[in-house]
Amino acid sequence: MKVILDTDPGIDDALAFILLRAMPEVCLQAITTTHGNTTVQKCTDNALKLVELLGMQDIPVAEGAHEPLVKALSVAEETHGDTGLGHAVLPSAKIKAVDSNAANLIIDLVNANPNEITILCIGPVTNIALALLKEPGLRKKIKNVVSMAGTIHYPGNATPSSEYNVFCDPEAFDILLRSGIDLTIVPLDVTYKCLFTKSHVERLAGAKEDIRNFIDRSTAFYMEFHAEYQGIEGCAINDPLAAAILVKPELVTFRDYYVDIELHGEFTTAKLSADHFAATGKAPNAKVAMEVDVDGFMDFFIERVKTL
Ligand code: BDR
Ligand code: CA
Repeated sequence: MKVILDTDPGIDDALAFILLRAMPEVCLQAITTTHGNTTVQKCTDNALKLVELLGMQDIPVAEGAHEPLVKALSVAEETHGDTGLGHAVLPSAKIKAVDSNAANLIIDLVNANPNEITILCIGPVTNIALALLKEPGLRKKIKNVVSMAGTIHYPGNATPSSEYNVFCDPEAFDILLRSGIDLTIVPLDVTYKCLFTKSHVERLAGAKEDIRNFIDRSTAFYMEFHAEYQGIEGCAINDPLAAAILVKPELVTFRDYYVDIELHGEFTTAKLSADHFAATGKAPNAKVAMEVDVDGFMDFFIERVKTL
C-alpha cells in the first residue's frame, strides 16, 4: 500500500512514525510536514530526527505549509513541549528535507501513481488543500485520504467543540470535505478512548532500547499534559490509531455520514457536524470511525513496536 504521511510531529505523530515503521504492509512514499503542534520548521526537524531514529532515510521529507490558509498560526507547545517531542531528546538530524515543498511533492507523487496513493493526514490538512487548489484535477487521482480530525460527539480538545487539527485550519478541512475524495475521518470519539498509560510503557520491555526510551520520555510529557489540563490519566494516542486502521480497519466501526464544518460560528468555529439521521438528504461524504476496539489497538501497537 502506497502512503504519503502528512504530519506535524508532535508526540502522537511520532508514535505514528514508529508504528508505520513497524507496518511492512505500508510503503511510505514521502513524509510531508505542516504547521500544527508547533511551527513547521520544528515539525520538519522532528520528522528528520524520527526518520534517522527509525532508519527510514530513504523516504523523502518535504517541508510544507508554514501557516493556515486563512486564520493565524496556532501552536500547542503546552501539549507537546517546546520542541514538539515532550521530554524526549533526539540527536540533531544529519539528513535534510528535499527541495520540493510538501504540496508540490504530493502533486508529483499522485500524478506519478494515479489512484494508488493513500494520504494519511495526522495534522492540519493545509498541504492537501494547497495541492488541490493548485491542481484541482488531483482529487480524481488520490486513492483516498485518512485523516485524524474532528470530533462528532466527544468534547473538543482545542475549543469546547472543535478538535485541534481541524481548529488549526478549518478552511483547509472544508476544501477536503468538499473535494469528493474518498475520505475516512478518525475523530476524538475513538482516539480519546485509546489512552496510553505507564502500564503500556512497561509492556514495551524488550522493545529496541532507543525506541522504547523515546516512547517513555515523549509520552511522559503528554501524560503530564492530559493530567494537568484535562484530568485524564494516560494520554490519547490519536495519530497512531489512524495509521493502524490502514492495515487493520476492523479495529474500528465506521459510519457513513454527510459531514459539514462550521466556519463562522460564534462559539463553534471548526466544529464538525455529522448528519446521523440523514436530515439533510445529502449523500455521505465521509466514513467516520465511531467505535474502537481499544485493547485490540493497544495490543497491535505494542506487538508491532516490539518487532522493530
Ligand atoms: C491531534 O492534534 C494534535 O495535537 C495531535 O498530534 C493529533 O494529531 C489531536 O487532536
Ligand atoms: Ca498530529
